[in-house]
Amino acid sequence: MTDPQKVLTERVQQALARAFGPEHADADPLIRPSQFADFQANVAMSLAKRLRRAPREVAESIRAELSDFPGTVEVSGPGFLNITLDDSWIEAEAARMLDDPRAGVGQAAPPQTVVIDYSAPNAAKEMHVGHLRTTIVGDALARLHEHLGNTVIRQNHLGDWGTPFGMLIEHLLDIGEETAVAQLQAGMGTEYYQGARAKFDASEEFKARSRKRVTMLQSGDPDTLRLWHVFMDATIAYFNKVYDTLGVTLTDADIAGESMYNPMLDQTCDDLEAAGVAVLSEGALCVFPPGFTGSDDKPLPLIIRKSDGGYGYATTDLAAIRYRVDDLKVDRILYVVGADQALHFRMVFAAGKLAGWLPDDVSAEHVQIGMMLGKDGRRFKTRSGQSIKLTDLLQEAVDRASAAIADRGYDEATRSEIAHAVGMGAVKYADLSVGHDSEYVFDYDRMLGFTGNTGPYMQYATARIRSIFRKAGLTPDEASGPIVLGDPAERALALHLLGFGALVEQVTDRSEPHRLCAFLFETASLFSTFYEELPVLKEGVDADTRAHRLALCALTLRVMRTGLELLGVPVLERM
Ligand code: ARG
Repeated sequence: MTDPQKVLTERVQQALARAFGPEHADADPLIRPSQFADFQANVAMSLAKRLRRAPREVAESIRAELSDFPGTVEVSGPGFLNITLDDSWIEAEAARMLDDPRAGVGQAAPPQTVVIDYSAPNAAKEMHVGHLRTTIVGDALARLHEHLGNTVIRQNHLGDWGTPFGMLIEHLLDIGEETAVAQLQAGMGTEYYQGARAKFDASEEFKARSRKRVTMLQSGDPDTLRLWHVFMDATIAYFNKVYDTLGVTLTDADIAGESMYNPMLDQTCDDLEAAGVAVLSEGALCVFPPGFTGSDDKPLPLIIRKSDGGYGYATTDLAAIRYRVDDLKVDRILYVVGADQALHFRMVFAAGKLAGWLPDDVSAEHVQIGMMLGKDGRRFKTRSGQSIKLTDLLQEAVDRASAAIADRGYDEATRSEIAHAVGMGAVKYADLSVGHDSEYVFDYDRMLGFTGNTGPYMQYATARIRSIFRKAGLTPDEASGPIVLGDPAERALALHLLGFGALVEQVTDRSEPHRLCAFLFETASLFSTFYEELPVLKEGVDADTRAHRLALCALTLRVMRTGLELLGVPVLERM
């Protein structure tokens, strides 16, 4: 165990148990970073109240039991325990971490099976900027869970079924397969949809054809299904182009769209009705999960079959829960979906519990994604009010990155490779670095900045360490300990790095990638201070000092690289 906070928590707990009895063995010792030492433990104050004793006295008793401790402990103020770790302990742990290819990140024990439901654009409309964020955050969570050894099942819950498909297929027949496919593959789903919609609103004949086509689709008419596939394949080809550009790990094998659940919906409704979980209300089959009321204080319905017999979004999600629990044998389901669907998921989870389909040992969590805003503070759109095609949006980030590195003398191929990595790194990091549930302003200038908590800055920080090794004529793997802490800047950096493993575990557990970004930003800042204050390769640095500083560089690089890879942000050799 390397994480200082974890080690201290355990040690102070042991001291508490020795001083005040075994019932205190798992009390939270309230270890926090401190201005006056490495950490402080605040437990004495709260414990003193309960024991009706003087807090300083309680603190002294704890300190007396911390004898075999790798550091010094002082009682200060009203009863804080100020803790300073020994340099030798930090050095030994850092050297151990340098030998560990996982940089101190543990393995889940036991591993869990985790479904991550993310991206999920709608085929009947354009893949919009909101889906960009669910895609990026979901993908980071998938990488984090996989790294910890959990079994990740990605589920791309595409909107690929429903009444609009009648009209979309008729439109496909009207304009011809070839034209339709070309349009859809190019990401013009919105134009396509609008074309179909206009005819639907204007022509009774088209409307009638479309309705008939929906029925044929639902009854499994082979020719209609083939046309549906033509439509979907072209649409998915575009989605894949976006995934490819972004470098996300979703593949066609992860597609589990709404259409997949279509054959299960009758049964879903029948079972809910038979169990008395769903009841007929004004002709619609509804679940009324307790605790949900509308503005009029009346129970709020989750409609699972409309009065016309049609199924909706909620029906599919209930079928999906059952499939994930019974067939995929999942321990945890993460729904990485817009925050505006919070009520939907709370009701679906409640209904799933009522039905007994979502047992208590399976945790279903809505990872709420905040809305993407334009610089004007409104929902992100182009000036003309149209939403933006994602491939164009991503290309602009790459073009701007390319312009920013124009004067660095790279050949064309290198420049375009770096520009792509910087552009995508900027977009992804910007999405990840703020809390996933907060709204977020899409601003190229800020995300592409080479300073601050941005993707390009993190990439630059790693590339800078690489260049140190190139100058030294070594690979980072060749740097080996010992790590010796002669200077406060070295000590601060090493102590911070030791917290990496525990942080990754916590970030994964709580679905909070922005805290990994904050950790990496702090890492880069501490490294900068270290590197500005202390020469590594300069003349006059003796061989030992040089070796242990290079070891610290290598450990920093390992942490930065691992962290960025877990976020899905490309790491560069040079920049
Ligand atoms: N297609 C939906 C949308 O764009 C998101 C689906 C999320 N996943 C789910 N299981 N409901 O809003």
